[in-house]
Amino acid sequence: MPAMDAFFEDLAAILSRHLALDREQAAIWIEKPRRPELGDYAFPCFRLAKTLKQPPVAIASRLADELGPVIEETGSFEPPRAIGPYLNFTMKPERLAAYVVQATLEGTHGYGALPSRDETVVIDFSSPNIARPLSIGHLRSTVIGNCLEQLFHHVGYQVVSINYLGDWGTQFGKLLTAYHRWFEGGLGQITVSVLFQLYVRYHQEVEEHPELEDEARAAFKVLEAGDEESLKLWRLFREVSLKGMAPLYELLGVQFKDISGESFYNLAAEQMIDRLIQNNLAEESDGALIIRTGEKNLGPFQLRKSDGSTLYSTRDLAALTDRVEKYDPVKILYVVGSEQRDHFRKLFNVARQLGVPESVELRHVPFGLYRLGKLKISTRAGRVLFMEDVLAKAVELARGLIEEKNPSLKTKDQVAHAVGVGAIIFADLVNDREKNIDFDWEAILNFDGETGPYIQYAHARTCGVLKKGGQRLEIDEQGSASSFDPAATGLLTSEEEQALLRALHAFPESIVNAVSNCRPSCIAQNLITVARMFSRFYHNCPVIQASGEQRAARLMLTRAVKNVLQGGLKLLGIEAPTSM
Ligand code: ARG
Repeated sequence: MPAMDAFFEDLAAILSRHLALDREQAAIWIEKPRRPELGDYAFPCFRLAKTLKQPPVAIASRLADELGPVIEETGSFEPPRAIGPYLNFTMKPERLAAYVVQATLEGTHGYGALPSRDETVVIDFSSPNIARPLSIGHLRSTVIGNCLEQLFHHVGYQVVSINYLGDWGTQFGKLLTAYHRWFEGGLGQITVSVLFQLYVRYHQEVEEHPELEDEARAAFKVLEAGDEESLKLWRLFREVSLKGMAPLYELLGVQFKDISGESFYNLAAEQMIDRLIQNNLAEESDGALIIRTGEKNLGPFQLRKSDGSTLYSTRDLAALTDRVEKYDPVKILYVVGSEQRDHFRKLFNVARQLGVPESVELRHVPFGLYRLGKLKISTRAGRVLFMEDVLAKAVELARGLIEEKNPSLKTKDQVAHAVGVGAIIFADLVNDREKNIDFDWEAILNFDGETGPYIQYAHARTCGVLKKGGQRLEIDEQGSASSFDPAATGLLTSEEEQALLRALHAFPESIVNAVSNCRPSCIAQNLITVARMFSRFYHNCPVIQASGEQRAARLMLTRAVKNVLQGGLKLLGIEAPTSM
């Protein structure tokens, strides 16, 4: 659906008045034509065929005649055109220019934003299992989640970001077993990579010695029963892990409001089980405790294993009900790989059985896997790419490129960091999130491809033009408003300028779509179009060399591009250096 801007509002008002339609209904029916040469908006007349008892094509051509004068009056659109069963509307070039330039100048981060409202969205993202280094697999949840946090905030929601650490469960039984059997150093020597080695060793040894499974299970039971010695070690493992992660989150610019993991819900999970038993919701099955989902092809939800210990699912249920109580959210989003689809279907089903009202939207935001040469990345198989190494390598490669392209740049370090990390983030977000991603260094850092560096480079170029044009880069709200000259925007009518303006005009719409579908790729794709159209404009329409009003108009347009690229990158969680 198109964004609700002045053009859209005008059109919806005219259509609803003329057709005696509900305003909302008219708005819902307005579409965006598939091909831009058909116009900017289209009204599908077949929607009216039944009520008007006329063929859609006839309705379209009649409406084109009838609405001509009213549309003319708004000054916003060319005369409407009937194209097949559609009535199509095209924005007037000078009105498009004036609108977009003014709207984008209203402040770097205001375009496409909505006023703050009193509704909370909880976003559960990143949420790694601890005691091992963050792998590239964790990157997806982290960057998608962070982008959603920025987006929901941008459109007015209060956002609670939660890093729901996997810091409890049978894997700690394995780790404790490995620690007792094979670790020989002192406690002070424990690091994330030591813990990871122990974990890997456990999985190797268990192949030969299946009895280790029982030992690990027992160790976890002891931990869950509150054994002080085990708890002390577990606390240390957790602390070491958190310390190991912190610099990576910092590098990615990610912050969480709440870092409570599974361990936090250990007790609550037990209490919840008692309640469920009392309410006759839980039942025994082969010694385990379950809740039936009653859905076809969906197994039961497990509350307790036959050995009496709780599970990931149990704790997730306790966490969900706690979040509903604590934050009173309108939505809870779980940014977790698509392999957990069934887990979330069961979790949400059971949450409803427990009385979580439908007014709280529960949504799993699934994503595909990274593949290394078509192989799924798995920690146990040893084909691991650690996030730390990937980010470091990206920054190093970016530094090499900068050395080559712009050796005299003063801010090399900062820029290498922004470009390297930005390249990784963009390469992730530009994809339809449910697809798997083949990891490819060259494609990610290509300055001419659909990449982060390409967008950042376009942004840096706008900054260069503005500086040459004698403009300050950072201007306050008032400064930007006063630099707007409505008369000059009337000059932005060339094909290149109009195409660029249309790309800018589509930015708020990309935000609307990104938010409603939880798809950061909508924004990334829009930024690619903006950068492409800017590059065409830059090569074909002189800015600094133009004279008088035209120069002023093109500088304004360049400023508009800068604001959208900078604001868009920020929503994606990517920095926008002013020179590269
Ligand atoms: N720690 C889990 C894993 O790495 C993801 C947790 C996602 N969040 C949740 N509430 N279940 O697979």
